[in-house]
Amino acid sequence: MTRFPQKPAFTGFNTPLRAEIDIVDVETEGEIPSALSGAYYRAQPDPQFPPRLGDDILFNGDGAISMFRFDGGKVDFKHRWARTDKFLLEREAGEALFGAYRNPLTDDPSVKGRYRGTANTNAFPFAGKLYALKEDSPPVLMDLDTLETQGYTTFDGKMTGQTFTAHPKIDPVTGNMVAFGYAARGLCTRDMTYYEVDPQGRLACESWFELPYYCMMHDFGVTRDYAVFHVAPIVGSIERLEKGLPHFGFDRSKDVYLGVIRRDDPDAKPRWFKTENCFASHVMNAFNEGSKIYFDTPVAKNNMFPFFPDVDGHPFNPVDAQAYLTRWCVDLNGNSDAFFSKEVIGRTPGEFPRIDDRYAMAAYRHGYMLVQDSTKPVDPACKSITGFAMNTLCHVDVAAGKESTWFVGPSSALQEPCFVPRSADSDEGDGWVLTLAHRILEMRTDLLVFDAQQISEGPVATIKLPVRLKFGLHGNWHAH
Ligand SMILES: [Fe+2]
Repeated sequence: MTRFPQKPAFTGFNTPLRAEIDIVDVETEGEIPSALSGAYYRAQPDPQFPPRLGDDILFNGDGAISMFRFDGGKVDFKHRWARTDKFLLEREAGEALFGAYRNPLTDDPSVKGRYRGTANTNAFPFAGKLYALKEDSPPVLMDLDTLETQGYTTFDGKMTGQTFTAHPKIDPVTGNMVAFGYAARGLCTRDMTYYEVDPQGRLACESWFELPYYCMMHDFGVTRDYAVFHVAPIVGSIERLEKGLPHFGFDRSKDVYLGVIRRDDPDAKPRWFKTENCFASHVMNAFNEGSKIYFDTPVAKNNMFPFFPDVDGHPFNPVDAQAYLTRWCVDLNGNSDAFFSKEVIGRTPGEFPRIDDRYAMAAYRHGYMLVQDSTKPVDPACKSITGFAMNTLCHVDVAAGKESTWFVGPSSALQEPCFVPRSADSDEGDGWVLTLAHRILEMRTDLLVFDAQQISEGPVATIKLPVRLKFGLHGNWHAH
């Protein structure tokens, strides 16, 4: 008899969904713009079986991919688990064989050496495939139409690093997918790879370098000329895994670094810049002007991840965990290893920053993110929602220093926004923003469509799923 633990990560709105779904012509409110033609893909963790160790963190669920296909003002929905090696081995066994998040020491011996990846972090269309990504493994490829899993890829064996980030970027000029891997030579190693994959999906570059210390290298910044890596003190070690501690913990004693490598000479040693302890995870965008590199990221004073507690026992502090969009600058012409400047851009704390991806790696104006507006009411029945509950969508006009926002209501939570251009050659920021809204009390999920220039007016269309999706992570649009 299968029974999930009666713990926050497996109950209420976090109850495992464990379903694969097809809905033709989803019920909608408002007017779906007929020019929206393509598909929106996103990833969520959803455990196939109860956790091997009795409890688990949300991040460790099996990756399930949702696809909303837009065509002629109608939307079809498809939802499938990625058939990772882990998923297939466990399905055959009828139970979980893999243990704690990023800790193979807790696995059943029968799966030793197998890919542990869950493909639960990002759904990234590229070169005619959907890349289902988890940063501890190579990419899993899926069919863009059927969501059928095609399996892991190491790019015809050319990728020798063991891992591939869940946050690749597409270079709008070259069409390359730019990516990296951390712990690339094995668990908790400081070895990093830098990758570029050409528009046909062939590995064009793999180069190696080392981090100052092992940490969760979750995202990075890419400019026209440089790749930029922020080393933030969410650290891990084999010793922690042997003790059965969470893979990562936050270390207040460590400095933060920005490492810069030249994209035209990625084998050259990176240049490292240093600043004081803080936490930054996702990157909105990066660009370089002359010798200066700008790197925009939400920065928190302290640990943002309560499920990866401080290594020195400091209790989680939700106020210090709030991140404000900040522009870091380093100057390659300077002799100092200090940052050139740090400017707080955001007025309200938030995360999950995105842009009009056509302006990736270049000076840009429009950003979109989720903010946690604590002045807004919360339905008492929703106060205990754990996960990534954000209540407000925010459009940041980086050039004008203005924000416009829309509050989703006291009993709903938003998911990462995704910008869709009105057409291939429309102006920056001219288009729509898609974001999921979980209706916590209704145990249901909507996909909202906003005019990207009129966020505060609310959605122009609401695609009303009759089912609940789970808190997920990242998603992307693929135009037809
Ligand atoms: Fe992420």
